[in-house]
Amino acid sequence: MKKNLIITVTIFAACSFMSAASAGEPAATANAGEKLFTQQCAVCHPQGGNIINPRKTLSKKILAANNIKTEADIIKIMRNGAAGMTKFDATAIADEDAKMIAGYILGTFK
Ligand code: HEC
Repeated sequence: MKKNLIITVTIFAACSFMSAASAGEPAATANAGEKLFTQQCAVCHPQGGNIINPRKTLSKKILAANNIKTEADIIKIMRNGAAGMTKFDATAIADEDAKMIAGYILGTFK
């Protein structure tokens, strides 16, 4: 009896958590870019930072100073890797996903 109650409460809590998470979702593309970024990049670039090389963050100003100004520039880094950064080829991140990640970065980190 008590066990059932615990299970019920757990399921209820999980459901309300899931509906809360989906309630505030922005446009599909921005959201997909954010999700991919969180999955693939955020380990080393939390909130657009850089835990390995703090001088190379993803803030727009820093990127521009390093001559990274367009989605293509960011995709080039993903494809080629960098010192201490994983190389992501097209099997790891498809072209359209890479584009969404790049767009998310340029539109998010000031
Ligand atoms: C294993 C850690 C790691 C992961 C995962 C990672 N990066 Fe990086 N990233 C780095 C490091 C370290 C640098 C600095 C490289 C250097 O010194 O040139 C960097 C640099 C960059 C830069 C250039 C920043 C600048 O200011 O010059 C971009 C853009 C970038 N990463 C994008 C990404 C994207 C997009 C992803 C996910 C697809 C990603 N990174 C995943 C570690 C990582």
